[in-house]
Amino acid sequence: MMRAVVLVGGIGTRLRPLTYSVPKPMLPVGHVSIIERLITNLVGGGVTDVTLALGFKPEPFIEAFPDGTCAGAQLRYAVEPEPLDTAGAIRFAAEAVGIDDTFVVANGDVLTDLDISALVDFHRSHGAEATLHLIAVDDPSAFGVVALDDDGRVRRFVEKPAAGTEPSNLINAGTYVLEASVLGRIPTGRKVSIERSTFPAIVAEGLAYAYATDDYWIDTGMPDLYLAANLDLVSGRRSGQSCVGVHPAASVHPTALVERSVVAAGTCVANDARVVDSVVLAGATIGAGSCLSRSVVMGRIGAGATVHDSVIGADGAVADGEHIAHQRRPDPARP
Ligand code: GDD
Ligand code: MG
Repeated sequence: MMRAVVLVGGIGTRLRPLTYSVPKPMLPVGHVSIIERLITNLVGGGVTDVTLALGFKPEPFIEAFPDGTCAGAQLRYAVEPEPLDTAGAIRFAAEAVGIDDTFVVANGDVLTDLDISALVDFHRSHGAEATLHLIAVDDPSAFGVVALDDDGRVRRFVEKPAAGTEPSNLINAGTYVLEASVLGRIPTGRKVSIERSTFPAIVAEGLAYAYATDDYWIDTGMPDLYLAANLDLVSGRRSGQSCVGVHPAASVHPTALVERSVVAAGTCVANDARVVDSVVLAGATIGAGSCLSRSVVMGRIGAGATVHDSVIGADGAVADGEHIAHQRRPDPARP
């Protein structure tokens, strides 16, 4: 049996207004929730039991998996009384379900084809206390950045370094294998970040290792990346995985044009609308003759409107004939 803790308690600030109504890991990518895709990959790598470390909006997760399983894994829920940050959440969840052996941790917003069993093997063969999956990126400053020795030992871990000061282009890709001893390093009863305090402490003792791969990887936590994750699937850019664009239970008028887009079940796209490089989510209505490009929509788009590079939440609307670009509605910056 291999257990995993998946961190899903963040408030999803950067994906507002979408996350006003749906917690980030419950948002669909290619018609299937991020959490279900993530757990499917964990199960493929040998994970049998998954504990969701919940805080913000736990109910949608519990309702989504009424039989207590997901992708063949037994699901358990640990709901924090208040946000404990990443390390605090891991300790809280692990103790709630009695984890006392090597286990896997995943950030709940990451989609990857990483072979988890290979990460576990690497961890064991190096005698590591913590092993991190790494990915090389062009701009690492928005992530945890790792400097490695030749043998795969982590020499430095620095969370979100100032641009230009990154020690490498290898970032923490948000999947870890941890020994249970890591739990004892995490103080209880307050917020503790695994990236800012626990990993640096393990690195200082020479017990952290990391394993870089070039697997498909995306952190869906920002609108352009959430959009990209969907478009990658619908455009067949992911090996071995794809999705239909228009869900069979969506209502798309025969004169509407849908190109390189994901249109969810239950949505309505009216006559002569154009939907290009976009994601139309449950609850959305797309008005007659409107034009949608590079946008994510949960709300209402009026007739004849044009919407480019925008995010329209469940309570957002674009009026008939209105033309907008680079907007979020409702605007999360406004109280
Ligand atoms: N339960 C719980 N409680 N979960 C939390 C909390 C909390 O207090 N705070 C954050 N999380 C969850 C989020 O829901 C998310 O799934 C995960 O922890 C990571 O938080 P993010 O807010 O998405 O972090 P990030 O994307 O800025 O950075 C993290 O991921 C990067 C890779 O995508 C870090 O781990 C970086 O080091 C890493 O490079
Ligand atoms: Mg993230």
